[in-house]
Amino acid sequence: MAELTDEISKRRAFAIIAHPDAGKTTLTEKLLLYGGAIHLAGHVRAKKDRKSTKSDFMALEQERGISVSTAALQFNYEGHVMNLLDTPGHQDFSEDTYRTLMAVDSAIMLLDASRGVEPQTIKLFKICRERNLPIITFINKMDMPALEAFELLDNVEKVLGISAVPLVWPMGSGRDFKGYFDLYGKKLHRFERTTGGAHRAPEALSGIEDPQVRELMGEAEHDKFCEDVAIAGEALPAFDKEKFLRGEMTPVLFGSAVTNFGVEHLLANLTDLAPAPRPIVLDNGETLKPDENRFTGFVFKMQANMNKLHRDRVAFLRVTSGKFERGMSVNVPRLGKEVKLANPVAFFGQERTTIDTAYPGDIIGIISPGLYRLGDILCEGNPPTFHPLPRFAPDVYARIVLTDTGKTKQFRKGITELADEGVVQLFNLTEQTPLIGVIGQLQFDVFKYRLEDEYGAPVRLEPLPFECSRWISKEDAEKAGRFDKIVYDELGNPVLLFESQFRLRSFQEQNPDVVLHMHPIVI
Ligand code: G4P
Repeated sequence: MAELTDEISKRRAFAIIAHPDAGKTTLTEKLLLYGGAIHLAGHVRAKKDRKSTKSDFMALEQERGISVSTAALQFNYEGHVMNLLDTPGHQDFSEDTYRTLMAVDSAIMLLDASRGVEPQTIKLFKICRERNLPIITFINKMDMPALEAFELLDNVEKVLGISAVPLVWPMGSGRDFKGYFDLYGKKLHRFERTTGGAHRAPEALSGIEDPQVRELMGEAEHDKFCEDVAIAGEALPAFDKEKFLRGEMTPVLFGSAVTNFGVEHLLANLTDLAPAPRPIVLDNGETLKPDENRFTGFVFKMQANMNKLHRDRVAFLRVTSGKFERGMSVNVPRLGKEVKLANPVAFFGQERTTIDTAYPGDIIGIISPGLYRLGDILCEGNPPTFHPLPRFAPDVYARIVLTDTGKTKQFRKGITELADEGVVQLFNLTEQTPLIGVIGQLQFDVFKYRLEDEYGAPVRLEPLPFECSRWISKEDAEKAGRFDKIVYDELGNPVLLFESQFRLRSFQEQNPDVVLHMHPIVI
């Protein structure tokens, strides 16, 4: 028990939320550099060259230069075990991102100092807010022309409605970025430019009144800086850890990921402030404590064919309580059977290593021949009553037509496996040309590409004119009129498709007794 509590207190499971281009890939790489997980940051020239960044592993990612898959990377920092879950950055992957954010205990919100809060930041922030996730803000690219620090804090507060409290105060920006003053540690961290940022950044510490600093900045700039620091200290609210843990306040750090500056400070704050795995409130009002003496976990991500050489499927599991040991037998309540977890693995890009033990906050990959589905709970003893992952109603629909009829077997295997992974949702599976629904148009391309590339089943997608859908009960399905379009999901639940939000509203007005559900009634 003492071992379990100790291991839990060391764990930090977090994700980085950012608008594309804010520097998420760069920061990920630098966190790994500081965590000693890689020894030389291979700062990647351009997006098309992303092959060397460890969390990108799909050919499509490299072709498109966007992050499609979610990888979990583990590294150690100052006695802590850090589990970084990589959230896909593109706006069309919100469902996948949503699931990842269900599996972390805190998030780093990364902003570009010249842009502040951007559209994708808002979307991701909202998901974190729903879960009251504690968020640490890192304002990146201070080595480039930036907005004023006061302006950036105001932007976060106004746009996101969260109190933003600086932990440090930047000294200039762009070519004049000289470092920052730690408002709580009362130390000046001076920034020295390095080329490429392949190694740890050299950092000089001094007091704010250091004559060398005054000389470095110039008198007028130094005076303004001291004045701003005084205002920041007096006029802004002080950091309140309880508010941060409730997701009501975000501590703000400034830095430059590409040159490594501020990355170490960010890690130190993550270990100091961000919470270790916390209890989960169950559907019946009870709590599932991470230090409960039995293993539980849930599948938040499925991935087929991560490595073409292996041609297997991996279920990524977030451990929620107890100790996981290789070879243990656990229940899968959905299947009503016990399975032995003989070969759990951790991933680092394309490399995989066997895991012998894991604790709450850790992510383990389980290689399985199609046994698991998204949202599955794996546990010792009785299943805890929580629904870890909601599914969402798709907003784009198409009919899938196999163009090479000799590939029916591959086609069926591909569509079911990709649906299990959560890439698409399938409807009318028993028909010759099933329907698929996705959230975000780009997901169609991912689906089509993977079906051809990984399963050898070429398809044509015929878009359907539906924009939204709602699950209904079987009894309600009988009440729907003959002009309403009803399809059936993989579990046989009826789903009503609508051509527009307007149609949806008018249906509801005309059928007030039909209950429309955003999520499947049975998951
Ligand atoms: P993303 O994953 O959030 O999309 O962002 P990514 O790390 O790819 O960074 C986007 C661009 O911003 C990259 O430039 C990267 O080098 C740059 N960048 C990241 N952090 C910083 C920083 O602290 N300062 C500055 N000045 N730039 C930063 P790129 O033009 O796409 O590629 P590259 O040719 O510079 O590598």
